[in-house]
Amino acid sequence: MSNSLDPHVLVIFGASGDLAQRKLVPAVYDLYRGGYLPEKFALLGASRTDFTDEDFRKKVVFNNEHFDPKGESEEVVKKFAEKLFYQDLTSYDGDKDIKALAKRLKTLDKEFKVGHNYIFYLSTPPKLYHTIPQALAKEGLNDTPAGWSRIVVEKPFGYDIESAKELNESIQKYFPENNIYRIDHYLGKETVQNLLVTRFANGFFEPLWNRNYVQSVQITAAEYVDVGSRGGYYDGSGALRDMVQNHLLQVLAHVAMEPPIRADAHSIRNEKLKLFQSLRPITKRDVKDQVIRAQYSAGKTRLGEVVAYRDAPGVPDDSRTETFVAMKFFIDNWRWAGVPFYVRTGKCLPRKLTEVVITFKNPPQAIFADYDDYAISCDNQLIIRIQPDEGMEMEFGMKVPGEGFRVKTVGMEFNYSDLTKKDVPAAYTRLLLDCMKGEPTLYARGDSVEAAWEFVDPILEAWEKNEVPLYSYEPGSWGPLQSDALWSGEGCGWRNPAKEVLK
Ligand code: BG6
Repeated sequence: MSNSLDPHVLVIFGASGDLAQRKLVPAVYDLYRGGYLPEKFALLGASRTDFTDEDFRKKVVFNNEHFDPKGESEEVVKKFAEKLFYQDLTSYDGDKDIKALAKRLKTLDKEFKVGHNYIFYLSTPPKLYHTIPQALAKEGLNDTPAGWSRIVVEKPFGYDIESAKELNESIQKYFPENNIYRIDHYLGKETVQNLLVTRFANGFFEPLWNRNYVQSVQITAAEYVDVGSRGGYYDGSGALRDMVQNHLLQVLAHVAMEPPIRADAHSIRNEKLKLFQSLRPITKRDVKDQVIRAQYSAGKTRLGEVVAYRDAPGVPDDSRTETFVAMKFFIDNWRWAGVPFYVRTGKCLPRKLTEVVITFKNPPQAIFADYDDYAISCDNQLIIRIQPDEGMEMEFGMKVPGEGFRVKTVGMEFNYSDLTKKDVPAAYTRLLLDCMKGEPTLYARGDSVEAAWEFVDPILEAWEKNEVPLYSYEPGSWGPLQSDALWSGEGCGWRNPAKEVLK
């Protein structure tokens, strides 16, 4: 396979943590076995655990239950592991530590002849996102005249609009915007990218994709898992910050943005920003009518008994953090004026599913109504399944054979897996590869992240002031009934697909 990547060292801060083990190292391995990594490549893990290179290799490769050799021989895995190194730190931003890291990096740079090209991946607690770039700058690692230096920042990118702005400012002091890669793993999902191809590579969707033909748009991201052992993190976040501000608004942008003039980072990211800027603000007064928040109680899901959210480890007994959110809002631009958008997400729901449903308007006259109780409502839907069972389904009315004009809704299916026999690359694999190439299209730009926070902030404020009820819902349900009321007057409603078989 041809390999056009520059030689480089990938430095992962927080390398002894969960993300490196579950996602990052397996993703780098996928790139290695796919022949994408340059010959001259090394990965340097850095964190506060006292590891040797060998300990680190054991932790993330040989003793890592998330590391799948994918049928490769021991030899191949060993060769890969030899590219992994480790530097222990007492703190992430202390002078001595950064000097030690810089020294190690220089040694690897020489040994692997990478020509001063570095990626710094921040997978640490977010408060360090401010200090690590500054510490890197002290050693000149943010700007390597003979090579390039990029920084990848994990979510959460800020906690609200103020903190997101501060974070942008503090990273941009040391790294130019072009070299900052704010990762949102939903953008690495093939099906999210495919939304753009569906819309802009076909002539017949786009003419219908507007207020003249679309009645409503809904986006659901459901999960059947509870918060498990993540209570400590999750309680400081909640469903709105954890899923909506980033992942679901990114999906929304792909569904609703205007056609970019080209498929490049600048054009696509400009259109996304415009879309976020067109979101009609939900004022604090309207939050109670447009946004429903809820927490799961004790009960049973398909995985078994679940303790109430407030009884989960790491969650305070009086927590008011939402594990479910559903909202209705509008986009104030020519294309979408008056079309309601609905977004919901939650833990402990009946199934794992992310999908977008475009519901088209009914025909202007119901001429078959005398023959049937065919409701002429919500029967023309385009369902875009982001995950699992990636694909698309179109639903429309057909004549039932026999007398009269009875109408039945039928579906036409496309399954993404029919397109390729190859494994679809995992989101992190795709995103890391893009960063290695210097291709930022699938990363969030600073101004867009701020615009998304701008939309979410009034909701958080109203919640903090307790101006809005916090409902409860049973595990295994589709959330509180109040979320159905968001649709009142709209005819249609949430699409709650039947449970799939647990894989
Ligand atoms: C993460 C959230 O960003 O996305 C998790 O922090 C959530 O709470 C996860 O479970 C969902 O991602 P995916 O790819 O499984 O839909």
